[in-house]
Amino acid sequence: MPENPPLLVEFNHPVMVGKENEYMAQAIAAARISGDGQFTRKANALLEQQLGVPKVLLTTSCTHALEMFAILLGIQPGDEVILPSFTFVSTVNAFVLRGAKPVFADIRPDTLNLDEKQLEAKVTSRTKAIVPVHYAGVGCEMDAILEIAHSSNVAVVEDNAHGLFGRYKGRYLGTFGVLAAQSFHETKNFTCGEGGALLINDPALIERAEIIREKGTNRSRFFRGQVDKYTWVDIGSSYLPSDLLAAFLFAQLEQREKIQSHRQKVWNYYFEALKGWALAHEIVLPCVPFYCDQSYHMFYMLLPTLELRQGLIAHLRRHAIESVFHYLPLHQSDMGKQFGGRTGDCPVTERVSDQLVRLPFHNALTSVDQERVVEAILEYDFSHEKILPVHLLCRGHP
Ligand SMILES: Cc1ncc(COP(=O)(O)O)c(C=O)c1O
Repeated sequence: MPENPPLLVEFNHPVMVGKENEYMAQAIAAARISGDGQFTRKANALLEQQLGVPKVLLTTSCTHALEMFAILLGIQPGDEVILPSFTFVSTVNAFVLRGAKPVFADIRPDTLNLDEKQLEAKVTSRTKAIVPVHYAGVGCEMDAILEIAHSSNVAVVEDNAHGLFGRYKGRYLGTFGVLAAQSFHETKNFTCGEGGALLINDPALIERAEIIREKGTNRSRFFRGQVDKYTWVDIGSSYLPSDLLAAFLFAQLEQREKIQSHRQKVWNYYFEALKGWALAHEIVLPCVPFYCDQSYHMFYMLLPTLELRQGLIAHLRRHAIESVFHYLPLHQSDMGKQFGGRTGDCPVTERVSDQLVRLPFHNALTSVDQERVVEAILEYDFSHEKILPVHLLCRGHP
């Protein structure tokens, strides 16, 4: 077998699941492909109705929805924002762009979500927001997080990039914070390539959100006939996606039951097929508390060591299967260090970052693909993978 044969099972593979082509053609035929056309409105309305959110605004990405958080919360230089170190860089960058100081919290070792027990000690008079990230679409401990936030008068804003249609104690993720952000990047359950949404749970923020998303103008009010001209009224940027993308996304959202039931099967298959092997080799499989309905965004495993994790990724690659790891701890990154991050600050994050591997997971994954992945995993020889060439290690490691 060649060292790295062409891939047979990709980590991700975005596919059309419904009327994507038809709706994009309709958007073109309507000669309305800039922002806030018919498909943007339909996608916003679908999400508002399904989630019970007062206002949803599609955005160009989750990153941009997060940037809108920071503007809407009035973040000023020196304000502090508490967030997990174990997250994507956009969660923190959005606030740092406005001058905030990130305060990194560690994660729980079971769900890999923000450790709510750390929050109280991290809240100061400068704290403006707590940002729970519902990792893998499994809800953070929202009861405790909201209690601490309310008692200290701090806003909760949810990074729900992974968690659309997931629930915590029966309530949809994205409906707990004053604001929430969704991602429709091609790796997500529902996609339009690059895209996102801002969920606004506090109606008092709706009008300003519309303005910020429309370059700081009151153009949305103008289109509704509420003002006779539009003008520059606030800071803002261009955060609204083309209606072509919204058309693609709306077709995907219409198929939400089909997509979610497929992903549930994929997740359950991995879990059932790997649980015995995991137990035998001290591998940790995802933990979903009984009161959380997950969004079936990903399937990850925690290997005992970095070497074994890197060995498994290389082993799967030799079997033409792509698997990936993430996130590198933000507090240990170059930028994180500039904000005072030091090794040892978030021990669970540091350990998990070395151990985590994500298996192929997408809307076109077949049972044959999954059998191939599981078969290759079960063949992984732990004894031979302990010493690895340095180039296979993701970063400097003692
Ligand atoms: C937790 C989290 N937040 C934000 C983002 C950014 O999403 P987008 O690519 O839509 O900007 C990601 C990307 O995967 C993510 O994982």
